[in-house]
Parts: sequence; C-alpha cells; structure tokens
Amino acid sequence: MEESALLTWAAERGIHYRKSLPGRQVTPTADPAALRAALGGPAPEHPTDAAAVLERLAGAVEAGGLMGMASGRFFGFVIGGTVPASLGADWLVSAWDQNAGLFAPTPGVAVVEEVAGRWIVEMLGLPAHASFAFVTGGQMANTTALAAARNHVLAAAGWDVEAEGLNGAPPIRLVVGDEVHVTVPRAARLLGLGMRGMVRVPVDGNGAMLPDALERVLQEQPGVPTIVCCQAGNVNTGALDPVGDLADVAHHHGAWLHVDGAIGLWSAVLQPTRLPGLERADSWSTDAHKWLNVPYDCGITICAHPQAHRAAMTVTAAYLVQSAPGTDRDPVDWNPEFSRRARSVPVYAALAALGRSGIASLVEQSCAHARRFAERLATEPNVTILNDVVLNQVLVRFLAPGGDDAAHDARTRAVIAAIQRDGTCWMGGSVWRGKAVMRISVSDHATTAEDVERSIDAVLSAAGTA
Ligand SMILES: Cc1ncc(COP(=O)(O)O)c(C=O)c1O
Repeated sequence: MEESALLTWAAERGIHYRKSLPGRQVTPTADPAALRAALGGPAPEHPTDAAAVLERLAGAVEAGGLMGMASGRFFGFVIGGTVPASLGADWLVSAWDQNAGLFAPTPGVAVVEEVAGRWIVEMLGLPAHASFAFVTGGQMANTTALAAARNHVLAAAGWDVEAEGLNGAPPIRLVVGDEVHVTVPRAARLLGLGMRGMVRVPVDGNGAMLPDALERVLQEQPGVPTIVCCQAGNVNTGALDPVGDLADVAHHHGAWLHVDGAIGLWSAVLQPTRLPGLERADSWSTDAHKWLNVPYDCGITICAHPQAHRAAMTVTAAYLVQSAPGTDRDPVDWNPEFSRRARSVPVYAALAALGRSGIASLVEQSCAHARRFAERLATEPNVTILNDVVLNQVLVRFLAPGGDDAAHDARTRAVIAAIQRDGTCWMGGSVWRGKAVMRISVSDHATTAEDVERSIDAVLSAAGTA
C-alpha cells in the first residue's frame, strides 16, 4: 500500500476506535497470552508489508487489549481524555517528525512552544517573566523544577551545584507535605537529595498542608538551604494546599516553594481562583495529559527564576545550532531531554481551541460531576464518602453491615473488583487514612451527565452483587 493510503487507513482506524468508545466496555478484556500470541513470535527476519503490519497491530491490540481511557466513563487514576484539536495536532507532530530541541532547525515548532508556554503562564496568573519547559509528565516536571530549586538554594549558600555536584555541598533540607505524591521523593532520589532526610509537614483532614505546621518545621533549622514542596490537587482527595500562605511562610525562612500541580494547577483558571497567592511560589509543575485533555504525554514545568532553571538544564555542543543568549529560545536549555518530540504543539492546539473559558468550563464541569457522584452515592445505605469533594476526586467506602474496618475494606475492594469486571465504567482503588476506598476521578471533557448517572447505576448494581 502506498504511504498516503496507509496513513489514511491508520487515521480512519483511529477515528473508528474513538467513535466506538461510548458503546464499548471500558475495561480491557483480552487474555494476555492471546495478546502475546497475536503480536509476538520470533524477531522478524524479513520485511513485511506495512498495511499488514498495521492491520495485525491494531487488530490484536484493539481486540480487548485497551482500556477505554478516552471514554467518558473512565474514572481511573487521573487520566484526562483528548480534545479533538489536540489529537489532530498530535497526529501532525508525528507527520512533521521534528526534533524539537533547538530553535534554528525547526523555528515553527519552537515558536509554537514559546507561545504555548506564555499562554499557560498568563492563563494561570503566574509571573510574566517565568520560564517553562514541556516535559514528558508530572514526574519530570517535578524533577526539572526541583533541579532549578537545587541550583538556586545552593547558589544562595555559595555553592555551584552544576560545577561541583553534591560532593561536599551544604546539605539541602527537602520539606514536603505528609500527603506528598510519590514522584517528589523519586525526583529527590534522581537529584541526589535522597529520601531519608525528607521532612514531612502535617496536613489537615482533607490532606492539605498546614501553614502553621510548616512554620514550626522551618523554625527548626534556620539558615539551612531549604526546598518546600506543596501541592495543588491531592491524588486521592483533590485537596488544594493554601499555596499563597505557604509561600509567605517559606519565603520568610528563605526557602524555595515548589507547587506540584499535576492535577489541580488548571483550577487556577477559575475566577475567583481556588489557588489564591499561587503566583507567589517559586516553581510549579502540571500535566497537559491530565486535565487539559491533551493526548499522552506532556507535563509542564514553570519557574519564577529563569536563571536557576536554565543553569540547571542548559547544555552546549559544537555540532549543535544554538541561539545566542537573549535571542531565540532553544528548548534544550530548559528541558532535561536532549532530542525530543514537539509535545508543546498539541498543548498549543488545546489552549487555542478551548481558550481560558473553555478550560474553566472543563474544570467546573468535572468538579460538578464529581459532586454528583458524591451526592448520589452518599444517599445509599452503607456507602460513605470519605473526602471533602473540593475538586474532581471522590473517595467512596462501602460498608459491610455490622462489620469492622477489615470487613469494610474487603467489601470496598469487592465492589471495585465487581465494577471493573462489569466494564460499564472504570474506577480504581486506593487507601485513605488506612481505609480502603474506591477512587473516582473525573477529568475528561467527554464525560456527560448521562455517563455519570449510568456509572452510578453500575456501581450500585456492582455493590448489590459484591
Ligand atoms: C500530585 C501528582 N504529582 C505528580 C504526578 C505524576 O504525574 P505523571 O503521571 O504525569 O508523571 C501525579 C500523577 O497522578 C500526581 O497526582
């Protein structure tokens, strides 16, 4: 098959898959052994016709091997869907096949990235001079921000970490909330900060960091280079830390405040904002592939200290075509990746297609759906909601009448297993304050009120059989 026919076939196949989502089981049904048999075998020795390759690939994977993550009835983890403009832009990115590390070889995508970064800074109300980087996801967004923070707090202590590394450096105190996401300690490991010295700050009943508690922690070791990491959007409850208050406390003690906003930073587009004082932090991370509904993958780092950010990431080589300082923006100066996909292009398309008001509607609509889940489920006997539904997350516990906590845990896990088997919708499980919970996360523009009611019906009928 010639190239244009092949690509048209692939596009039509993708469109067909997406159109089939509303009527499909959300849960994958394929037997892994069948998938391996259909896709595997010895490494191919000879060429195969490209159309046959794609047919085999799509046929095998789509036959129950995919989770309906882009379905309006997928409520697992925090995985947004895909707005059409963004998906179309993503297809163009693959067709263009640009290595987006430098400006000069690909000025078109470099300018898209500049514009998308500036739009995000503006929409989130962050300082206009802030620098940014488009990375693979929240993990790398946190890692990039903390690398900038490491540079800055050690420079303030008279240490050049980029030249000297950490051998002999003044120790850094990393302060996190008790509800820190696991990607922050992993970033600490990657950056040589380690996990053992991490200081944890108490949080409130919904998981948000307490400014008074942070104040007490920071008083303990005055003058130590300190990075505080708070969050906008707890992965279980959705709680938003009081960022402005935390920034004031951190800055009073000369500390850097990073906001892990993988989930919740987009709620800053709401007016009035739910994140007052957000702009007073030093760095922020968020995901485009979650609530902005950009296809996987893309995370974003934003930094109020461009000099530290650039110093932590920049790289030069004689064979590169790099822009003179202060002229065009080379993404390689801001990113941990060297060669990289033009992942800002689908972000640009989502921002342009939705606009600030469209993103605000997406956030508001998701939160309203989450509240509806909580309201309706809470009216059922033996069902309780364990979190304050302040964002898009709902934690549901199913009680075993007359039973103890262990029995409630077992029943909750049985209901989760039953709904996943049923496949009408998909919710995962988690543990909140030692208790097993069903975790419902709403972050897809495709979710309708009807999806929510149908999913609640399915959950209740799963609970009836579990
Ligand atoms: C608060 C928080 N930070 C970071 C991450 C990691 O994001 P990613 O999966 O895009 O690396 C997540 C993922 O859910 C998260 O909830």
